[in-house]
Amino acid sequence: MALFKKKQSDLSELKLPEHIGIIMDGNGRWAKKRHLPRSAGHNAGGKTFRTISRYCSDIGIKYLTVYAFSTENWRRPKEEIDALMKLFKDYLEEALRDFKDDSIVVRFIGEKNPFSDDLKALMLENEEGSKGRDGMVLNIAMNYGSRDELVRAVKKISSGVKNGEIDIDLIDEQTISDNLYTAGQPDPDLIIRPSGEYRISNFMLWQSAYTEFVIMNKLWPDFSKEDLDEAIRIFNQRNRRFGGV
Ligand code: IPE
Ligand code: IPE
Ligand code: MG
Repeated sequence: MALFKKKQSDLSELKLPEHIGIIMDGNGRWAKKRHLPRSAGHNAGGKTFRTISRYCSDIGIKYLTVYAFSTENWRRPKEEIDALMKLFKDYLEEALRDFKDDSIVVRFIGEKNPFSDDLKALMLENEEGSKGRDGMVLNIAMNYGSRDELVRAVKKISSGVKNGEIDIDLIDEQTISDNLYTAGQPDPDLIIRPSGEYRISNFMLWQSAYTEFVIMNKLWPDFSKEDLDEAIRIFNQRNRRFGGV
């Protein structure tokens, strides 16, 4: 049974991560197993995204970052990219409007420019429309790559130095954090990767310095609320030392 349904008993016993990251992986394999086109896997993954993001908000997670499309995913066949762009558009039109009921604050992390004008407009509309809300912050990583994010941060800081706004001797770790897409947000406590891959694939490299990783052997379209509960349980068994003893 999902945590939310047993809120009284389970939530009081478990420490909830403040910020969860999810690498939503395995849509293609899910479709392949069913002899369906990869786009069918992405559609199914979109439904899981909807369920899991609302569930995270329901159980009281403060920040959720979902990796939806990486800077490297443009290497995929045009047909797959087109299907993904259509799916993003449908979701931004429908599902994200539902988030209003949950007071979810929607933010996009990643460079918006390569997306079509329609999609860019929808992304901005969703960000602007959710600004006044006070619920969970949902970062949707689209055209996101952590190395790209760091390059952008270096450029921003460099131009600050050049025009005299930033003193080079005062640049510290906080300066870097403040110039990432996630500026002002806590680092993720837990990153979940379904689909059984043991890699980070360019996701939140700076922010995950002390994040707990949970790799799960479920493909993203099959990932359930119970799996999220399980990841939180595993997280609770970890001894986070942050370099101390
Ligand atoms: C994740 O699923 C979705 C995106 C990267 C957009 P994949 O499409 O990577 O699925 P697999 O890894 O091929 O199974
Ligand atoms: C990571 O998955 C990106 C997203 C889930 C959006 P990929 O499927 O692109 O990663 P690799 O290629 O397996 O490393
Ligand atoms: Mg993949």
